[in-house]
Amino acid sequence: MSNLTELVSRRRSAALFEEGAPGPDRATLEALIDLAIQAPNHRLTFPWRFHVVEGADREALGALWADEAVANGWAPESNWDRERAKLSRAPQVIFVGVVSDPDDAVRQREDQAATSAAVAQLLLLLEDAGFAGMWRTGRMVISEAIRAALAYQPGESIEAILYVGRRTSRTPPPRIRPAAARVISWGLHPTPLTSPTAKDAAARG
Ligand SMILES: Cc1cc2nc3c(=O)[nH]c(=O)nc-3n(C[C@H](O)[C@H](O)[C@H](O)COP(=O)(O)O)c2cc1C
Repeated sequence: MSNLTELVSRRRSAALFEEGAPGPDRATLEALIDLAIQAPNHRLTFPWRFHVVEGADREALGALWADEAVANGWAPESNWDRERAKLSRAPQVIFVGVVSDPDDAVRQREDQAATSAAVAQLLLLLEDAGFAGMWRTGRMVISEAIRAALAYQPGESIEAILYVGRRTSRTPPPRIRPAAARVISWGLHPTPLTSPTAKDAAARG
């Protein structure tokens, strides 16, 4: 188990995963998700859902996605194979859903925030357990074909698509984040903060 400060500093997203190495088995993933959902949750709405896709299901869902991307004009037909391969980049893909009340804007915000908090915890827990993850979204989160294949219900939306596997030896690109002082103001009537640009942000190995 890691020291939290060290773990947060060490965690990096992975775009590629070790060939042939599986993601966490069911019992391990269940234990990690059990911890991840200890994240803050107002009104105890338990809004998060985790749908795991592995093996040949990734290819079947990928083909559905490629059809959808081309049919909607989100990708040219010449990119069909590329689109289909997206879900196969990792051995395990976890669709994280939020169930909320579409007629309650405040609850929707809170449920989305609670789910994002659980996702962030899950990424750290995966790293701690020796796995790597990457949070992706994009148009796939609004695809009716993907929603239908995963039996999403009305009022449920996809918050995150987590790609999970074992880290390769590839060094991740430097992490770009502004210094905290650039995004903190103190007290009443502060000078409004300006948005940091990538140029302002320091690259941290
Ligand atoms: C809500 C959300 C959606 C994201 N979607 C994508 C995505 O679709 N594609 C992508 O390359 N990175 C996406 N990212 C960024 C990566 O997950 C990752 O945070 C980024 O590459 C920085 O790497 P790091 O986590 O190692 O600092 C997303 C991040 C968040 C929070």
